Amino acid sequence: DKGGHRHYMSKEIAEQPTTLANALKYYTENREGQHLLEHGVDFTAFDRIVMVACGTASLACFVSKYWFEQIARIPVEIDVASEFRYREPPLNSRTLALFVSQSGETADTLAALRYCKGKAGMILSIVNATESSIARESDLALPILAGPEIGVASTKAFTSQLAVLAALTLQAARQCGTVTAARAQELSDQLRAVPGLVADALTIAPQIHRVAQQLARFDDVLFLGRGAFYPMALEGALKLKEISYIHAEGYASGELKHGPIALIDEDMPVVVLVPHDAMFDKTISNMQEVMARGGKIIMISDARGLSEGGDGVWQRIEMPAAAGPFAPIVYAVPIQQLAYWTAVEKGTDVDQPRNLAKSVTVE
Ligand code: F6R
Repeated sequence: DKGGHRHYMSKEIAEQPTTLANALKYYTENREGQHLLEHGVDFTAFDRIVMVACGTASLACFVSKYWFEQIARIPVEIDVASEFRYREPPLNSRTLALFVSQSGETADTLAALRYCKGKAGMILSIVNATESSIARESDLALPILAGPEIGVASTKAFTSQLAVLAALTLQAARQCGTVTAARAQELSDQLRAVPGLVADALTIAPQIHRVAQQLARFDDVLFLGRGAFYPMALEGALKLKEISYIHAEGYASGELKHGPIALIDEDMPVVVLVPHDAMFDKTISNMQEVMARGGKIIMISDARGLSEGGDGVWQRIEMPAAAGPFAPIVYAVPIQQLAYWTAVEKGTDVDQPRNLAKSVTVE
């Protein structure tokens, strides 16, 4: 049942204020969820977290690396499961091994989990399918409570994975004493504001639709971001290529001048994810380097960012102002919508992209 939507993907994008609120209620207000976090994981027992997943789930891990390292001061390594499983990475009892999977059945992720058994101190997973192999074989499986995700491109599962990882970060910070009580409260308020901001972000769909009509004409697109918006740029590129079949790449803004800037011309639009935050000026200067070489910019920012840095850009997408480290969750919405509307414009099969399966149970 698509609930009146043309595609499952559009329905699942629209469900995010609700699915996020569910996850946050469970992990930040509900006793059972808090119990899982408080008594299930003792972050003081670990020197590092090794996170392993595939595709979009691995990008959720990558975003959360910024949170765990900056807020809870715990070193995080991330890897895609297909590389991790054959690398024979050293692990010990002070390593927390964390697996993220929507389906809970991804073959490489499951094999990586099995490799960690008896080597890592704890096997923790974050899953949507709680009756899955990955959930069963973990010491503790945390549900994301997103409900069934039918569209092959992951949308609501991605943001719910991020919400659970954010709640875990706050728990880790409390346990490890890395933030003051006042800062913990501020972060927790910012996290609880996310579902409302996601609802606001959904209302700008008409702007994105208009930009997508332009974007659909191009063969190559670059996505740029800094800090936790760098993995969001990777996710934006992944989503666009998998459903619209437009070649797209994500780069850290600061890496531009180390190679990819050579590609810039008027035939390759550059999507820049740049909220008005502490990194704003740095990313804007990278963006201006693109513009100076004739590049077409699609700037995704808030009102303040667009007024301070939006001069001369090709297309603007105005987001609600979202402050703090969890703002990337809100920016998932425009990158999903951009991929969605571009695919609709091109007439591709949004829910069943060619060559892709929802659950990748073979290596
Ligand atoms: C992209 C996408 C895939 C999955 C990946 C992992 O939109 O859906 O990249 O994220 O195949 O799948 P799970 O999370 O089921 O392990």
